Amino acid sequence: TYVVTEACIKCKYTDCVEVCPVDCFYEGENMLVIHPDECIDCGVCEPECPAEAIIPDTEGGADKWLEVNTKYASEWPNITQKIDPLPGADDCVEEEGKFEKYFS
Ligand code: SF4
Ligand code: F3S
Repeated sequence: TYVVTEACIKCKYTDCVEVCPVDCFYEGENMLVIHPDECIDCGVCEPECPAEAIIPDTEGGADKWLEVNTKYASEWPNITQKIDPLPGADDCVEEEGKFEKYFS
C-alpha cells in the first residue's frame, strides 16, 4: 500500500483523490489518509501530490504512517473530489513536526 505522511498535514492539496482509481482516500480535519486494505498499489497518486506526502509503505520511516493511515481510514469519511487546499498550505509544506503540533 501507499501511505500519506506528515507533509500533507495543514496542506491537503487533494490532487491525490482525483487520480485514485479505487477512491481509497479518507479526510480528516487537516490531513488525508489512504485505506491500506483498499489501495491497489498502482502508484499514480505519488507523483500527483505537490507536497510529496505520499510514499510506498516499504520506504524507510513509513511504519508510523502506516499505523496512522490504518487507524484513521476507518474513522474518517471518504473523499473522492478535489477541494481547495487549506489556507496557508504553500507556507507549511516543508515544516517539520507537523504531526506533533497540528494533527487532529
Ligand atoms: Fe489510490 Fe493507487 Fe494511490 Fe493506492 S497507490 S491510494 S490505489 S492512487
Ligand atoms: Fe495531502 Fe498531497 Fe493529497 S498534500 S491531500 S496527500 S495531494
